[in-house]
Amino acid sequence: MTERAGKRILLSVPHMSGKEEEFVREAFASNWLSTVGPNIDAFEREFSQLMGRPAVALSSGTAAMHLGLRLLSVGAGDEVFCPTFTFVATANPITYLQARPVFLDSEPESWNLDPDLLREALTDRARCNRLPRAVIVVHLFGQCAKMDPILEVCDEFAVPVLEDAAEALGGSYQGKPAGTLAPVGVFSFNGNKIITTTGGGMLVAQDEAWIRKARYWSTQARDPGIAYEHSEVGYNYRLSNVLAGIGRGQLQVLEDRVARRREIAFTYRDAFTDLNGIKLMPQAEHGLHTNWLSCFLIDESSFGVSRDALIQILDEANIEARPVWKPMHLQKLYHSAERYGGRVAEDIYKSGICLPSSTNLSPHEQERVIDVVRTATEASSRLLITTA
Ligand SMILES: Cc1ncc(COP(=O)(O)O)c(C=O)c1O
Repeated sequence: MTERAGKRILLSVPHMSGKEEEFVREAFASNWLSTVGPNIDAFEREFSQLMGRPAVALSSGTAAMHLGLRLLSVGAGDEVFCPTFTFVATANPITYLQARPVFLDSEPESWNLDPDLLREALTDRARCNRLPRAVIVVHLFGQCAKMDPILEVCDEFAVPVLEDAAEALGGSYQGKPAGTLAPVGVFSFNGNKIITTTGGGMLVAQDEAWIRKARYWSTQARDPGIAYEHSEVGYNYRLSNVLAGIGRGQLQVLEDRVARRREIAFTYRDAFTDLNGIKLMPQAEHGLHTNWLSCFLIDESSFGVSRDALIQILDEANIEARPVWKPMHLQKLYHSAERYGGRVAEDIYKSGICLPSSTNLSPHEQERVIDVVRTATEASSRLLITTA
């Protein structure tokens, strides 16, 4: 067995640049220890400049999804099309609004929402006058979905699109930043993301008035004036000024973080080129894939070890690896939801593994991961030869 000793290598951990503390110190020095303050304003402004769209800073990506869907008028009894292959936080806000998710399968080139299937599903729904209120597109693991055909078909049926770019900050599609292709886009600064505020999110929109509305909902929908008057239901969803300070520091190094995530994925890929049955997830030509997580497909018959056994072997070597997301239609929570499509997401789920991808992973640590993966398959082929 390869090296068990040594610090545990985790999947994806925060990586501070050193600039964050200065902004956090300013928040303390000025006593803006609140959900208002100069860091929030600056973080929104800086994010907005980067994306070319107005933005509101929120307490999580999930909160941003919730408000984004509300902006698209999703409400009780509505249906929302949602990729089955995603993290549960994409689908849950549909349920918060008492609407119902309808799950759609992926295509194999980007692992994201299949535009042909989307056309079939919308055509089918239009026939019985049951078009969904909105379509959610997810850019999984840092790679954009095929946005042109998706937007084209949604436009034809006049169904608005929300982009869940929680995992794709820094990525792009045909030169445009992920999360800015549809009317509404969502980002996450959760601790495992490419940059983090420990927890937090951002909502961007085409329309400045929508961002004003979302900001209003995020602060308990307090009507203008000094009295506490409310005419709509709101939430306590604003990001703290302290955490926005972390975000400002992190934003300055986003480009470096994207370059490093890509480098990590390609280092694994190159180290495994001579191995059978292990393949980096597809890198579609339509944009820049950040490879937020380094995802590989394991073909047990040629690799000699199953995906789950490999996770176990890595764990024994003190290395955290995880399966890719379990599709929503396979979850107990959503097993009765309607769905369109076949088994693309299911098949990826069965063989997909995420390897440690933190941008502060040292070359030595990555070497440890590579060694364990190589030893696992080599040991299995030796076993085959001895037992043959
Ligand atoms: C695809 C996807 N959507 C939404 C979210 C929700 O983001 P947050 O954890 O900031 O609420 C996440 C990450 O956690 C995610 O991976």
